[in-house]
Amino acid sequence: MNAQELDMLIKGRRSIRQWKKEDVPDELLKKAVEMATWAPNGGNYQGWRFVVVKKKETIEKMASAVQSVADKIASWPEAMPWQEDVNRYQKNASFFRNAPVCMGVFMSGYQSPMDKVLVARESFDREAKEILGFRRSAPTAIQSGAAAVTTMLLVFHQMGLGAVWLVSPIQAKREIEAILKAPPNMDLICLIAVGYPGESPQRERKPVDQVLEFLY
Ligand SMILES: Cc1cc2nc3c(=O)[nH]c(=O)nc-3n(C[C@H](O)[C@H](O)[C@H](O)COP(=O)(O)O)c2cc1C
Repeated sequence: MNAQELDMLIKGRRSIRQWKKEDVPDELLKKAVEMATWAPNGGNYQGWRFVVVKKKETIEKMASAVQSVADKIASWPEAMPWQEDVNRYQKNASFFRNAPVCMGVFMSGYQSPMDKVLVARESFDREAKEILGFRRSAPTAIQSGAAAVTTMLLVFHQMGLGAVWLVSPIQAKREIEAILKAPPNMDLICLIAVGYPGESPQRERKPVDQVLEFLY
């Protein structure tokens, strides 16, 4: 792949939220997960698990769980000041029920040797506690999972599939973890809904000069 093809692959990927009914072959899903496991990850600990769901009723169950939490949040009086935005969010909360495939991404916690030292000191050493706080503000496990998901979305795009990264379903974490029989001591970090694209949305990005700064 040359630089121009790489540019096209990266910029051509879009989040897809409508799909054809067509099945996605297991071999493609397996290949995409295998490629995702080559993502950079903290300490190469590879604390990820991917649970693929194709059964319509199971996807429906997850979507309904998410919808019911979204309905509950929208009904609380504190939602009033943002009613319009909350209603839009509520309306779109479970669109992934139409996806032919929905994957749960799970991560186990990661403790580097430095974390172990800091944890041992945090109860009596303010400085250690503060440093641990810095580390916890940018969790390695979440960042590693995000690297894998990013890689997978690009692979899906290259395969002609369309996917969307879904973090809002985390509001129904307990229900989804039960439905997916979450691996022990692992946390659901997101869902990925995928299928053959039924839409081709356009999206823009800020010019790079707006987000880039060189410090010389
Ligand atoms: C961490 C993360 C969480 C996201 N969560 C959701 C979500 O819950 N629901 C959704 O429809 N899209 C979600 N997205 C997709 C974003 O809305 C999408 O990436 C963004 O609008 C840019 O569009 P693009 O992916 O087509 O370039 C998420 C993306 C990321 C990276």
